[in-house]
Amino acid sequence: MKLKRFLGIIFLSLFGIIYFTACSGKKVNLQPSSEPAGAQTTDGEISFAAVKPLFNQYCVQCHMSSGMPDLSDYEKAKSVSTKIKNFVSSGFMPQQGSEEAQAISDEERSKIISWVNAGAPLEAVQAAPEGSAGMSAAIELPPLLNTINQCMNCHGNNGVSSSENNPNLAGQDELYLKKQLLHFKDGRRKNQTMNGIAKDLSNAEIDMLASFFGSLQPNDPEQALEETYVKIYESKNMPQGTMSCVGCHANPTFKGQPLKTITDDNGAPIPVPAISGQKSSYIVSQFQNYYNGDRKIAIMQQIAIQHPFVNKETGELNVDEIQPIADFFSELPIINVND
Ligand code: HEC
Ligand code: HEC
Ligand code: HEC
Repeated sequence: MKLKRFLGIIFLSLFGIIYFTACSGKKVNLQPSSEPAGAQTTDGEISFAAVKPLFNQYCVQCHMSSGMPDLSDYEKAKSVSTKIKNFVSSGFMPQQGSEEAQAISDEERSKIISWVNAGAPLEAVQAAPEGSAGMSAAIELPPLLNTINQCMNCHGNNGVSSSENNPNLAGQDELYLKKQLLHFKDGRRKNQTMNGIAKDLSNAEIDMLASFFGSLQPNDPEQALEETYVKIYESKNMPQGTMSCVGCHANPTFKGQPLKTITDDNGAPIPVPAISGQKSSYIVSQFQNYYNGDRKIAIMQQIAIQHPFVNKETGELNVDEIQPIADFFSELPIINVND
């Protein structure tokens, strides 16, 4: 199964390159979460029975042979329904390049998405109200699959990057990812590469991308938590200062405990990113960004301009203080904080 997955990923990246280069105009329907449900069954009802044949036709066979969830089983399909929506609407599933991906129609994709939007019901329910814009046809936005492949060139297939300078995105807090993309888009967060990429993204695409990358599973979650637990509590060499970071950042050690919630003066939540498993040199570079003001978020700016991170005499950033903490976090497993 490991090999299959690996081959799948190789295939995916090759395909991605070809696809991206060819820049083909294939339309992928996507249904941003903020929009009402897309195409409905003619009678306006939606149930597991209505989508199960689609899962059987386009998903089950490949999934069974690659150890992926059996979507003909209601409980399994429901448990991954958010991913189903993200993956089917973005064109990531059925797996790119497969026969199934060629065969499935836009209406069929929309039907699956409508089922998830309706709460992935077992019994028939009325699909979202006959509505605003006579939603019988699928909504068409520019093909997101091209964009996802472009992102994956730098952020890695499955959202785990292989370069030290490009952060992992898999499993990262969705609201946080969305905020970063919006900040890259309007220039509040400065980085040439990302500013260039984000300026062309619509807000609907940003929603979709944040939710797509947030739903990727970087690791076996159980194993990740277990390893982290052991590392943090049994490591005797935790760099000084690490505990204060853990207080706010993904605290994977307490099973199921959400990230600490921070709010701004108006009571709006400030999303806190997970930094476990993040690239060490990326963590250091972000201290530089907060210190310079290339990222203007008071909480981290205050930390980055303080002793011991700033040398009292020279006023310069003290990388020697940050490096061991960054190394520590980078060795922890990446977790999915949205699960
Ligand atoms: C040709 C093979 C193939 C087909 C067809 C396929 N998948 Fe997948 N699917 C995979 C592979 C491989 C993965 C693992 C991807 C990864 O983790 O990189 C996967 C993963 C998933 C996941 C994530 C599962 C999890 O537990 O994280 C979902 C959800 C999913 N597929 C939905 C679908 C749906 C819905 C269809 C049909 C409309 C479908 N897939 C068709 C190969 C396939
Ligand atoms: C050419 C390489 C490249 C491409 C393509 C790329 N990125 Fe990035 N991305 C980067 C780099 C480098 C950074 C780190 C920027 C910094 O240092 O502030 C980054 C940062 C990010 C961040 C912030 C992560 C964090 O933890 O704060 C997000 C979110 C992001 N990228 C999303 C995307 C998405 C979505 C796409 C596709 C639309 C994409 N990127 C395409 C290189 C790339
Ligand atoms: C009071 C809460 C708090 C504490 C304590 C804290 N952080 Fe943060 N951190 C945040 C928030 C909120 C953000 C997101 C800021 C933004 O949107 O740019 C963040 C962002 C970051 C980022 C950027 C992550 C990325 O994906 O780009 C890094 C790296 C980071 N913190 C490291 C640390 C380290 C190391 C420590 C300990 C020395 C620490 N933080 C302490 C709240 C905190």
